[in-house]
Amino acid sequence: MAWADLHSFPFNRSSGRALCGSGRVAATNISPHKSIKENYPMSDKVIIFDTTLRDGEQCPGASMNLREKMEVARQLARANVDVIEAGFPVISDGDFEAVHTIATEVHGPVICGLARCVPGDIDAAAAAIQPAGERGRIHVFLATSSIHREFKLKKAREEILRLLTEGVQRARGLARDVEFSPEDASRTEPEFLAEVVRAAIEAGATTVNIPDTVGYAMPEQFGELISYLRGQVSALDDAVLSVHCHDDLGLAVANSLAAVRAGARQVEGTFNGIGERAGNCALEEVIMAVKTRPDVYGHIHTTVAHREILKTSRVVSRMSGLHVARSKAIVGENAFAHSSGIHQDGILKKRETYEIMDPVEVGWGGTELPLTKHSGRHAMTARLVHLGFDLPDSQIASVFERFKEIGDKKKFVYDDDLAALVEDAMSSPEEAYTLDYIHVTSGTATIPTATVRLRRGEKTLQDSSTGNGAVDAAMQAIDRITRRNGQLCEYRVEAVTQGRDALGEVTLKANFGDGQLITGKGASTDVIEASARAYVNAVNRAELSLNRKTQVEAFSI
Ligand code: KIV
Ligand code: ZN
Repeated sequence: MAWADLHSFPFNRSSGRALCGSGRVAATNISPHKSIKENYPMSDKVIIFDTTLRDGEQCPGASMNLREKMEVARQLARANVDVIEAGFPVISDGDFEAVHTIATEVHGPVICGLARCVPGDIDAAAAAIQPAGERGRIHVFLATSSIHREFKLKKAREEILRLLTEGVQRARGLARDVEFSPEDASRTEPEFLAEVVRAAIEAGATTVNIPDTVGYAMPEQFGELISYLRGQVSALDDAVLSVHCHDDLGLAVANSLAAVRAGARQVEGTFNGIGERAGNCALEEVIMAVKTRPDVYGHIHTTVAHREILKTSRVVSRMSGLHVARSKAIVGENAFAHSSGIHQDGILKKRETYEIMDPVEVGWGGTELPLTKHSGRHAMTARLVHLGFDLPDSQIASVFERFKEIGDKKKFVYDDDLAALVEDAMSSPEEAYTLDYIHVTSGTATIPTATVRLRRGEKTLQDSSTGNGAVDAAMQAIDRITRRNGQLCEYRVEAVTQGRDALGEVTLKANFGDGQLITGKGASTDVIEASARAYVNAVNRAELSLNRKTQVEAFSI
């Protein structure tokens, strides 16, 4: 999407030009001599700004390595989101590299990097998004509420206005597309917030975002705040008004939708609603609410590819290691499952009796031809591409190796099996540990014992341990090899598909001594092996997270 396409404005009180029938604006006669407002007079398009890779990744245990981030970013591009906030470049070398690589390799959406209102942050964000050219955005933020001003920043209102003006101006000197966020906006005095918004636009912000940072807002109030700002700040005719809601009271989606009704035209959030604490606004819910209720939202629309929603949710879940609840709206396993006889009967007679959305519209259904052990590398690769995985040859080779192993044990290899295998391969960067061999003895009258062999690059490392059970013994052997002492805090095993030969997928969370919960996932037809794979995955993620933490701790936000 071109930069100018994003800056089509929701309201134009002066031009009075009518909407096209679809609610979209035909951007004809675009001229560099006209203002953005003149080029794009009115739009009812809601810009979808995805921050899964920035705010979403701040969720405990959700750290992703570069390859995982790339998979998410590519899938977000396929889903046609408008903006990808790819990270916070100054925070660590890994974040910088991720934003830079996404800006280089992911085409379509605007690529955004976050920055505090500090020159070093803004310069780092500008350098990281540079490969995206005109599609690059710098997102600058500074807290504005009295509690943040007094206790965190120890700065008066005037100083906040000066700092944000300088920050936005600096960003505008480096990028054409600049977003400003007054952090904790929903708890900021409204008249001061209006001043802040005015100052940010005057300094050159092209989007002004209103975050409900701590999830404090109520839908009616938040909608009123958005209307108030639109009424007070006429300069908002020349900028996109955005919202960014957190889910501490379970109201992030409701608040975002209230804001859209009141005139916001960018919604920030994440797929599956992942994010700091209770999470961010679940984008799939906003997208489908707007689509499903034209009686409420009129011509308001998004340009997200709805049929990619489920796939995007699954990629985010697999790459972040964060499980989606069965009852989660739109993308949960039960979202379209009807178990009661009355409902099933109604659905058979007319789907709309109990379904307000067509599940196919969000990516459910479709016939799946399972692979078997006779399927070749080409068929498997084609299936991976269909599932949205874009893997380098080296990883295809390791997925194929596991596919053959599983194919020998299982009659059919389904899409979900394959996705679980990919995740195993993806979470094995060169320097990380991989499981080479495991042997366990266990039973009612023996002491459970495990021997584990891991590979790390060229090295092969082996050790044995006893434990309270076979899984515990395997994990203790891995601890001995990797010189760690992980505490298992959560452990879940699920069958990926049906039948006795189903792949078992283990998801666990472990604490490696620093209080952080690290997620690990592993899959196999043998649950002990799946557990060992999941634990090795957690150890690898712990290393990644430790490197990042050391750098992040070097500065405060
Ligand atoms: O929640 C928040 O306030 C944020 C800002 C950086 C936009 O994430
Ligand atoms: Zn946030």
